[in-house]
Amino acid sequence: MKREAVLIIDFGGQYNQLIARRVREQNVYCELKSHTITLDQIRAFDPIGIIFTGGPNSVYDPAAPHADPEIFRLGVPILGICYGCQLMAHELGGLVTPAQDDSAREYGKTDTWFDTACPLFRGIPAESVTWMSHGDYMAKVPDGFALAAHSASCPTAAIFDAGRGFYGVQFHPEVNHTEYGRQMLRNFLYDVCHAHGQWTMGDYKNAAIADLREKIGGGKVLLALSGGVDSSVAAALLAEAVGDQLTCVFVDHGLMRKDEGDEVQAAFAPWPIHFVRANAEERFLSKLAGVTEPEHKRKIIGEEFIRVFEAESKKIGAVDYLAQGTIYPDVVESGTGHAAVIKSHHNVGGLPDYVDFKEIVEPLRLLFKDEVRQLGRELGLPEYLVSRQPFPGPGLAIRIIGEVTKAKLDTLREADFIFRDEVAKAHLEGSMDQYFAVLTNMRSVGVMGDGRTYDYTLALRSVTTDDFMTADWTRIPYEVLDAVSNRIVNSVPGINRVVYDITSKPPATVEWE
Ligand code: XMP
Repeated sequence: MKREAVLIIDFGGQYNQLIARRVREQNVYCELKSHTITLDQIRAFDPIGIIFTGGPNSVYDPAAPHADPEIFRLGVPILGICYGCQLMAHELGGLVTPAQDDSAREYGKTDTWFDTACPLFRGIPAESVTWMSHGDYMAKVPDGFALAAHSASCPTAAIFDAGRGFYGVQFHPEVNHTEYGRQMLRNFLYDVCHAHGQWTMGDYKNAAIADLREKIGGGKVLLALSGGVDSSVAAALLAEAVGDQLTCVFVDHGLMRKDEGDEVQAAFAPWPIHFVRANAEERFLSKLAGVTEPEHKRKIIGEEFIRVFEAESKKIGAVDYLAQGTIYPDVVESGTGHAAVIKSHHNVGGLPDYVDFKEIVEPLRLLFKDEVRQLGRELGLPEYLVSRQPFPGPGLAIRIIGEVTKAKLDTLREADFIFRDEVAKAHLEGSMDQYFAVLTNMRSVGVMGDGRTYDYTLALRSVTTDDFMTADWTRIPYEVLDAVSNRIVNSVPGINRVVYDITSKPPATVEWE
C-alpha cells in the first residue's frame, strides 16, 4: 500500500505542532513544513491531503506568507485553518477584510452552527462550541464555495468546495475547546483524504528497526543514556535493531532520584547490549562543592557530563555512529536563536568534542513525545520508565538551592520519593505533569516532641501543562498535601517544615533554578 502522509504547511500559528499531533493521533502520518516549501518538494512528498495552519498575519498584508497558487491545482484536498482558510479564500478569488467593528472579531469559545451535510461536519451536532481567534473575516467566499458554518457575528465560519476537496474553517479544530474538533479532523482525513490509518507505533517500530539495520549494517553505535524517556526509548529501539553492536553509556552523576540509576540499568538487562554505567558521583560532587549560583551549577554539570562520556567512549574506541534521542519538537523548534537565555538547558545531546564517529543517527526525530512513549511500550520497556515525568539533565542539583552536598541529596531523595509515593497512592499522576520536591536553603524553627528544631524547609512543586512553556500549579487536594507533609516531617531527618509552591509559569519557572 502507498505510504500515506499529510502535509501541514506552517504559516506561523501558535497551535501548529498541536495540529500535527492531532493528525497523528488519528493514525495518519504527517509532517509540518515551512510555507517556503516548493511545489516540487510538495510533489515529492506526495501527500494525501494538505492542511494550512493559522498564522499571525493578515492575507492582504504585503509581508504575509503565501503558498504557490499552483498548490490548488495538484488535485490534493486542502483544509485551511484560520489564516489558512483566509489564504485559501484570498487566493481563489474571495475577499478577506479586517473585521469592521469589534463585534465581528472573535476570540475564545464561540457558539457555532454547522451544516452537517458538509463532509467535514458529518456526524456532529448542528450546534456546538468552537475556539475562534481571528480579526479578519471573509466578506465574500470564492466562486464554487458554499458556506458550512456560522456564528452569531460571523456568517462565514466555514466554507467548502466538495468537488475540489477544499475546506476552510475560521476556528481552530485542533484545540480542545472546539468540542467536536477531533471528529472534524477525522472527517477530513478519512472521508475527504481517504486515509486508511496506517500510522501505528507497532508498524513504526518494525519499519524503524528495518531502517536502522539497513543503515548501520555491521557498524558500532554509541548512545549517551540519561535514563529519561527519549534516550531510553532510543536505546531500546537500537538494542532491538542491532543488539550487541550498541554500547550505551549511562553517566550516573549521583544527582538522580531514589533508586533511579538501578532502575535504568535493570530495564536494559534483557537486551544483549554493552551497558556501561559510569559511577561518577564523587567526580560531580567535588566539582560542585561550594558552588551556589544556578547557572554555574548547570554549566559544571553539562561540561562534566561530556567529559565523563568522552572518557568512557575513548575506552570503547572508534565508533561508526553516535545515536541521539532527538524528538520531533526539538527538530521543529530548533533554529529560532533569538530568545533570551532563561536557563541553559543541559541535555545528553550536547556533542562531545572528540568522540570519534562517522555519522549521527536520530531514530526518534520524527516522533512526538506521546508517540515516543507508545513506542517504548511496544518495545517492552517498563511502564515506570516510559511514563516517567520529565527530569532535568542537571538532576537534583537544581532542586537543591545553594550548595549541593551528598547529605542534602540524600535528604531530598527521600522527601521526593515520599511525595511521589503519596501521589501514586492517591492516583493523581494523570493531573500532574511534573511534580517534585525542592530543598530550599532556608532553615526555620520548629518543635518536635519537647525539643526545638532548626531544620530545612522543603518545597513541593507540581505543574499541570501541555508543553512546559507555560504551566499552572496543580490544585492538589489538601488531604494529599497533608499526608505528604506529615510523612516527610516525621520520617526525613533535617526537614521540619513543608510548603507548597502556588506560582504559575510565567512568572515563575517550573524548576527553582
Ligand atoms: P523550566 O524550569 O525552564 O522547565 O520552566 C521547563 C521544563 O524543562 C525541564 N528542564 C530541563 N530539562 N535539561 C533538561 O533536559 C535541563 O537543563 C532542564 N532544565 C529544566 C524542567 O524539568 C521542565 O520540565
